Amino acid sequence: MSQDKIELTLLPENRQIQVQKYQSILEALINAGILLRADCGGKGKCGKCRIQISDEYRGQVSLPTETENRSLGEKNLRSGLRLACQVSASGNFAIRIPTQTLLAPEVAQKGPTLLPEMRSAKKPAPGTPEAFGIAVDLGTTTIAAYLCDLNHHTVKASVSMRNPQVIYGDDVMSRITAVYQHEDHLSKLQKMAANAIEWGVRSLCRSTDVAPDRLIKMVVVGNSTMIHLFAGEDPTSIGIYPYEPRFKEERSFSASEIGFNFSDTINIITLPLISGFLGSDVLAAVLATDHERWDDGTMLIDVGTNGEVVLLDQGRFSATSCATGPAFEGASIRHGMHAVSGAIDAVRIDTRTGKAICSVIQKDPANPRQPSGICGSGVVSAIAELYKTGLISTDGRLLNNRFPDVFLCDDNELPEYLLVTAEHTRTNRAVTITQTDVRAIQLAKGALYTGIHLLCRETGILKPSKMLIAGAFGSYIDKQDALTIGLFPEMDMVDLNIVGNAAGAGAILTLFDETHRQKALTLAQSIRVIDLARHPDFQDVFMTSLSFPE
Ligand code: FES
Repeated sequence: MSQDKIELTLLPENRQIQVQKYQSILEALINAGILLRADCGGKGKCGKCRIQISDEYRGQVSLPTETENRSLGEKNLRSGLRLACQVSASGNFAIRIPTQTLLAPEVAQKGPTLLPEMRSAKKPAPGTPEAFGIAVDLGTTTIAAYLCDLNHHTVKASVSMRNPQVIYGDDVMSRITAVYQHEDHLSKLQKMAANAIEWGVRSLCRSTDVAPDRLIKMVVVGNSTMIHLFAGEDPTSIGIYPYEPRFKEERSFSASEIGFNFSDTINIITLPLISGFLGSDVLAAVLATDHERWDDGTMLIDVGTNGEVVLLDQGRFSATSCATGPAFEGASIRHGMHAVSGAIDAVRIDTRTGKAICSVIQKDPANPRQPSGICGSGVVSAIAELYKTGLISTDGRLLNNRFPDVFLCDDNELPEYLLVTAEHTRTNRAVTITQTDVRAIQLAKGALYTGIHLLCRETGILKPSKMLIAGAFGSYIDKQDALTIGLFPEMDMVDLNIVGNAAGAGAILTLFDETHRQKALTLAQSIRVIDLARHPDFQDVFMTSLSFPE
């Protein structure tokens, strides 16, 4: 072992990995393929990368940072709990990783909303050999993968997980910057995406008893930066004017080119890209919503870390994108998590006491889990309720004077609204909505609303006649909550349609029917791209969109 390397032992399995001296443990673990929750990208803010240092090795690791003192408190630090992103070691040491810290792929409760033609299962001819495929929606924050039966046209199982690349930043611009700054970051980010997908595929195969060598094809969609990183292509041109991607065409890869080990033979394709900020994910979402039957004035919004908006007006598709940030996916939210078992997905507030009544996603209702955090739709729901109850002002300040008992105070003396007390959570940490969480949602909804408003204005219409809300976040969102906080323009509830993870559905559709590859290409070439970042009214509209509607 070279002199600048030390040995890290993972307990209880006693697995040894070699790490660089003084390297952050988070980075060392991720390099070794061990994926942790790191929602803030290693900045010490989210408190989710907790690890336990074994007693006898405390002397080998760096002293607690100011951030750890604040996030973990003295008692936790004394018990050996540390933040993996803040601690490094100078000699051999051992750690335990609490289960809540591990990024666990979880079978999603809701698959994508599928078109009728996708729902109607097929009957293959007798003797047809089994054949399976994988559809992947590679998001900046969340990766969703679907194992599909190619003969019967059915989805057998799906998983979703956090994108481990988040340690290089939580939005596409920080990933691009990471690649620009260090030449080895491109291959690291590529490997992370490949490892995470492989990990999801293996877990899908295990849960369905499908042998990985039965997987014959994979369709991957994502925003342009994610697809560049997956393909191992430098995305830096997307970050610089005129924001052009290095490639836009459909690409095809072998397993070894991507670095997959679960199969030698699987054929992998990525769908075409529209522009630097409009990727194959929104293209797949448009395909999955049967765009050939859209009425004029129909708008699709794919809500993720980047909000992508497509509008059909006078027979022509126009599209734009806006940087919503990861708040809608539960990342960058103090107690945020994605929409899996144990996540609070809806909140109601008792107007007499100010107390919250929370609904929690349960994968197995017979074996309910206590809440461990809140997902994006839960945060929107909580904020809408707080606003309706008068506990948030129009400009987004939490108001703790009416019901002081349901508010705590954070380290910066700012109020935080108590959703669930520590003794009723799975993590023994209270779940709250902080002032920073409210600000994150205001910024996200301001960006999205600006995108919708300016796209309508550029195409000469007042507002869309019908909206299709896509994205995992959209699967759980309550339409009324969304309208309450001003996420979308005021419109009849019947004209707001939740279509779930339409990008994933588009990838599945392409797995089942090859003709969608040509449809994707035609669509990518015909969509008019509108760049809002340079729009002269962007700043004004954005600023006025931050408040909650009167
Ligand atoms: S606190 Fe370590 S990644 Fe967020």
